[in-house]
Amino acid sequence: MSRVLVSGGCGFIGSHLVRRLVREHPDLEVVNIDLLTYAGRPENVADLADEPRYAFVHGDIANADDVARAAEGCDGIINVAAESHVDRSIMGGDEFVTTNVLGTKRLLDHARAHGLRYLQVSTDEVYGDVEAPHRSVETDPLHGSSPYAASKAAGDLLVLSYARTYGLNASITRGSNTYGPYQFPEKLIPLFTTNAFDGKELPLYGDGMQVREMLFVEDHCAAIDLVYHHGAAGEAYNVGAEHEVPNIETAHRIIELTGADPASLVRVADRPGHDRRYALDCAKLRALGWERRTDFDTGLARTVEWFRENRAWWEAITSGEAYADYSAKNYGARG
Ligand code: NAD
Ligand code: DAU
Repeated sequence: MSRVLVSGGCGFIGSHLVRRLVREHPDLEVVNIDLLTYAGRPENVADLADEPRYAFVHGDIANADDVARAAEGCDGIINVAAESHVDRSIMGGDEFVTTNVLGTKRLLDHARAHGLRYLQVSTDEVYGDVEAPHRSVETDPLHGSSPYAASKAAGDLLVLSYARTYGLNASITRGSNTYGPYQFPEKLIPLFTTNAFDGKELPLYGDGMQVREMLFVEDHCAAIDLVYHHGAAGEAYNVGAEHEVPNIETAHRIIELTGADPASLVRVADRPGHDRRYALDCAKLRALGWERRTDFDTGLARTVEWFRENRAWWEAITSGEAYADYSAKNYGARG
């Protein structure tokens, strides 16, 4: 039996990953360390409550004692935890550096001290804007545009430095924009879907022609699992859908799937520093045996259905004061 520490397992991607690791690897125990920030929802992994190969530790990855407590007996660490929302990073909070940089260092230090395998879950945003027709390859320079992207790039550089300087068995995945069930309704797809169900406006930033590669969460988690088990030390692997979608098209598809009034789509002030396009070359990951299984039409339809059927999950969030405060701050200023 081996044991892995997954950070951020109560968040969106982390909850799918924890569930997948328990399901796909009968010889693996999974420990989930999560600080339970606004984005950490214990109910995302409620189905694992009676699973003997799963344990939860409430703790902060930026706290060395919490990390040591959670990682006891582990052979490896997968760092999924992060402050993950670009718009919140633009509001200026320190937590992006504390969690995404210092938290990464704390986990790396523990992995180094105990000779553990390490996987950093990173993002295509570390490459910054990518002009067509180029698709980012793993050796491209890092150019994070937002404070979020910069903090993730700093995390990546720390990981690569530990692999080179200390010989740490560490790899990185750089995923594209991910969507699916349990995504916090501040991100484009769950926000527009839940707003559509509530008859609210869908606030499109700028001209809506920014391009994202929308990746279904289960495909992303399959890649993380694969790279954790088979990726090479000191290497990064792009994880993208290799299918580019402008935001305005995503918005129109959500309107069709939810039956919302097309007039609910409104243009609002753009995101400062907004990256126009991300696009990933995933040849390196495919050479390891990964391929995307869920196309955008199928994944989006499944996701919208999930939100339709799980109103109680998202209403517990959207009816809260913290969510209202954030929405007023982010959207109130956009006019
Ligand atoms: P999320 O915001 O849904 O979840 C983050 C989780 O981390 C939450 O459960 C939160 O409580 C936890 N957390 C935050 N700070 C912590 C700390 N200091 N210690 C312990 N736990 C802490 O995020 P997500 O969208 O699931 O993203 C997960 C990871 O994947 C992030 O590293 C993000 O950069 C990366 N990523 C996300 C996407 C995407 O589109 N969502 C795409 C590519 C990469
Ligand atoms: O690409 C990977 C990244 O994808 C991850 O690293 C981040 O953690 C994740 O949040 C996501 O970042 P984005 O900024 O791309 O996601 P978001 O859903 O916030 O925005 C997607 C696009 O939609 C982006 O171009 C901004 C636009 N948008 C977003 C919101 C919330 C709108 O037009 N209106 C909105 O209200």
